[in-house]
Amino acid sequence: MNLEPGQVGADDRGLLLGDGLFETIRLYRGHPFRLEAHLSRLEKGAHRLGLEVPPDLRARIGALLEGGGGWRERDGALRVTLTRGPGWGLLPPQDPNPSLLLALRPWPSGAPPLLEVEAALFGWLDERALTSGIKGTGYLERIQALRESIRVGAEEALLRNSMGRLVEGAAANLFGVREGVLLAPGVRDGALAGITRGILLGLAEELGVEVLERGIDPVELPDLTELFLSSTLREVAAVVRVEGVAIGDGRPGPLTSRLREEFRALVDRERGGGTL
Ligand SMILES: Cc1ncc(COP(=O)(O)O)c(C=O)c1O
Repeated sequence: MNLEPGQVGADDRGLLLGDGLFETIRLYRGHPFRLEAHLSRLEKGAHRLGLEVPPDLRARIGALLEGGGGWRERDGALRVTLTRGPGWGLLPPQDPNPSLLLALRPWPSGAPPLLEVEAALFGWLDERALTSGIKGTGYLERIQALRESIRVGAEEALLRNSMGRLVEGAAANLFGVREGVLLAPGVRDGALAGITRGILLGLAEELGVEVLERGIDPVELPDLTELFLSSTLREVAAVVRVEGVAIGDGRPGPLTSRLREEFRALVDRERGGGTL
């Protein structure tokens, strides 16, 4: 792991209160994939929280990549964490001094076999929350949901919103296919505006697939022919069983596989496309 010099103190609000944001960005052969989309999401989140993004953020990412470790050639993941910096008590200090943490770690970028995961229903998201849709550093609900899922023998958690609709995996967007229509829970449903999700929706449109942006009612699970997750780190992963019951024929479905292939092809074409 490569860490940029500069550590947070024991009074950092990111650590004490989860008062911070983060992004995870893939490096495909050293190119930060969709870097601008990630930084723009970070900036939007920071704006909502009244947090200032350091003006030299891009330069610091560039310096880290150019620094030791040969990261310009390597496959990996870059984690950007921005917190409100030091301060006790709930109310942020008048003049906060945000902390920026950059870390790199290896992450293979070859095409692994399509992941097939079993999921269980645990955890709740509130689409009405003031922080809904913000990629904040507080992941306790998601960690617990994942732990509970693993405790019952599954590998992934599907989280529900206040309407009881399935909207996300523990750290991934969720998609379903019902009668050929792609169901994609969105920000209004309580999901994050995932960068991978956005790309997959664009690809689905190019393929002429009808898309409905809405949460998935657990009662319609038997009617789904496919269910899958998307995220920066896992790209596309098929959910083949939920609560022990097979989705479709219990194997990755055709649209899941097609979108995953198209996503892979796009990554190859762009070779990351990072502008740094
Ligand atoms: C809660 C949550 N939803 C969705 C995603 C997927 O977003 P992206 O495709 O931008 O990685 C993530 C990624 O880590 C996440 O943590």
